[in-house]
Amino acid sequence: MSLPLADFILYPFAVINHNYLSWISKVQVNHPAVLRRAQQVQARRTVKKEWQAAWLLKAVTFIDLTTLSGDDTSSNVQRLCYKAKYPIREDLLKALNMHDKDITTAAVCVYPARVCDAVRALKAAGCNIPVASVATGFPAGQTHLKTRLEEIRLAVEDGASEIDVVINRSLVLTGQWEALYDEIRQFRKACGEAHLKTILATGELGSLTNVYKASMIAMMAGSDFIKTSTGKETVNATFPVAIVMLRAIRDFFWKTGNKIGFKPAGGIRSAKDALAWLSLIKEELGDEWLKPELFRIGASTLLSDIERQIYHHVTGRYAAYHDLPMS
Ligand SMILES: *[C@@H]1O[C@H](CO)[C@@H](O)[C@H](O)[C@H]1NC(C)=O
Ligand SMILES: *[C@@H]1O[C@H](CO)[C@@H](O)[C@H](O)[C@H]1NC(C)=O
Repeated sequence: MSLPLADFILYPFAVINHNYLSWISKVQVNHPAVLRRAQQVQARRTVKKEWQAAWLLKAVTFIDLTTLSGDDTSSNVQRLCYKAKYPIREDLLKALNMHDKDITTAAVCVYPARVCDAVRALKAAGCNIPVASVATGFPAGQTHLKTRLEEIRLAVEDGASEIDVVINRSLVLTGQWEALYDEIRQFRKACGEAHLKTILATGELGSLTNVYKASMIAMMAGSDFIKTSTGKETVNATFPVAIVMLRAIRDFFWKTGNKIGFKPAGGIRSAKDALAWLSLIKEELGDEWLKPELFRIGASTLLSDIERQIYHHVTGRYAAYHDLPMS
């Protein structure tokens, strides 16, 4: 059975039930149709030149400014937080008449052991940018369930208000949808008030059909966001995968009235990429999804390219390396 994407959802959601699970196990994504759509979107020119600076500033407000390295320290996390609070040089913002708009990134994203550092640094900077922590044995998820859950609770205790979890990929690869649902429900409970962002690690799920199914299960289990990748897989966020996830979000919204957020991550480095992602969201879900409550871009180096492009827009030349220090 191969359904076109538009005909996807047939059963009411409400609570997970066996009808629904048996439906999930039969859904098929029309792979060639998704690839065609991805090409179509990618071929389009993104944003008119005169609007670019405004769109780039908008993109800044969607960034989960991320550092996930083995050698992260409290001082590089502190620098990251400063950059989250002051993402674009003040004089550039003045030139665009945006200096009083309090433009910051959407969140900072760190390892659990660095949450305290981030919370402290942001507090010192006098801002309430949320701290997101990865958890559940990120990036592979290969730790015992008990420690994965404890990791969530500890990160929340340290002040993380968003938790980016990874799922057990083999539950997807072997079609154990109910077990996947149960696992994510437990993550949800462990989060308490914190937002749950579920990373599907789509590069390791085998097929677009599995991406759709895992997206649906993650949303049914109570995720606030679904996220493409950890940034550590060999395949990062791609447009075909994103289209499938966005259609799942749309289908879920039609059926339940709940708007779930989307976060592409991994390999998004250039201002041009960021604009392409914004247009994709606009086309697939509409402007109402273009706000930090429903759209994030996970990135570490993207912000410096955006700042470079804004510098160019304002001054007419490209920044020398020392003009835009540290990002
Ligand atoms: C993931 O799920 C598989 C079942 O398919 C199980 O064998 C494995 O132990 C699970 N991994 C973890 C880390 O719990
Ligand atoms: C995926 O993204 C990560 C983080 O940005 C990067 O280090 C890696 O090279 C990317 N991989 C691919 C295949 O693009």
